Amino acid sequence: MARSDLLKRLFRAHQRDDRAGFLDAAREVVDDERRKQHGVLARELTEILDGVSASAGIPSLRLEQIPKDNERGTELVEVIQPQRFFEDLVLSSRQLGTLNSVCEQYQQWDVLAANGLRASTRLLFCGPPGCGKTVTAEAIASRVGLPLLYVRFDSVVSSLLGETAANLRKVFEFSAKGAWVVLFDEFDAVGRSRDDATEHGELKRVVNSFLQMLDRFVGRSIVIAATNFEQSLDPALWRRFDEVLRFEKPSLVEVERLVRMRCASWLPKNAALESVIRELEGSSHAEVERVCLDTVKRAVLEGKRVLLAEHWDWAIDRHQQRDQIVESQRTDQLPHVDRD
Ligand SMILES: Nc1ncnc2c1ncn2[C@@H]1O[C@H](COP(=O)(O)OP(=O)(O)OP(=O)(O)O)[C@@H](O)[C@H]1O
Ligand SMILES: [Mg+2]
Repeated sequence: MARSDLLKRLFRAHQRDDRAGFLDAAREVVDDERRKQHGVLARELTEILDGVSASAGIPSLRLEQIPKDNERGTELVEVIQPQRFFEDLVLSSRQLGTLNSVCEQYQQWDVLAANGLRASTRLLFCGPPGCGKTVTAEAIASRVGLPLLYVRFDSVVSSLLGETAANLRKVFEFSAKGAWVVLFDEFDAVGRSRDDATEHGELKRVVNSFLQMLDRFVGRSIVIAATNFEQSLDPALWRRFDEVLRFEKPSLVEVERLVRMRCASWLPKNAALESVIRELEGSSHAEVERVCLDTVKRAVLEGKRVLLAEHWDWAIDRHQQRDQIVESQRTDQLPHVDRD
């Protein structure tokens, strides 16, 4: 729509007190700015729009229309204003290379389209828990200035035959109305919740509908599916994605970067972290982060301004006890309790 028509629509909606119409037109202004590669302005306008509607307690157009599960009435998606940034994360240069390319392609959408090319917008994130799949989706949203549309898989998966596919359709239809980073988090939940033969038939149908919807989806959004059970995924799924990113546990160098990042203002000058890093080898990013926070808390509670070896020992000991409990649950054995 021409700019002048868009502005008239905006003003008329305001004059008629038509909130939904106003938000609809305002979103188009934002999209228009984004198309012109005015990413910062687009993001600021989005923040104003969402901030205003949230603080006034009045749901915006998108929020009013949030799709729900028919049977339970639960919302199928959640709109999140991203708060995490690439700068907060420890990512490998390979991951950063792919992520930068995805963001650049999104920002240069029209340049690519003018040359008959489609931006890479369908991403599959896989890897063990706590290694950054969800938080990276949020960081992409921050970088490209879009809200994160978090798909609640616990709501999408319905016990009613056929309802799960219907829910997925509602989510895709809703996504097509705006520009988002759409995150189908832990999306293999559809797969793992079904194991008997009849249910398996339904699962296949659900995965097929997901693939068809993903193929047909033309919205100006980035769609990410995240899983830590990639072995259970239908092989047909993989080639539907423009990029597949693995999120592995951090290397020793990455553990050190993460520790230095999370404890930056608490580490004494020239802190030697070798033994701490060694103890944390094999932990996920989330676990390393938890140990860092526990260590800082210990120091604070003892009234100290810097982290000392005893604080680290205390937090690492707790981490190891916790690990033992988790491991014993997994192998179905009782944890060994040291009673001394
Ligand atoms: N690469 C990373 N750099 C810095 N912090 C990280 C990184 N990965 C994870 N974290 C920290 O761990 C927390 C959990 O990560 P996240 O939720 O993204 O893991 P996940 O891979 O999605 O796990 P799950 O498979 O259980 O959903 C994050 O909120 C973040 O604080
Ligand atoms: Mg996650």
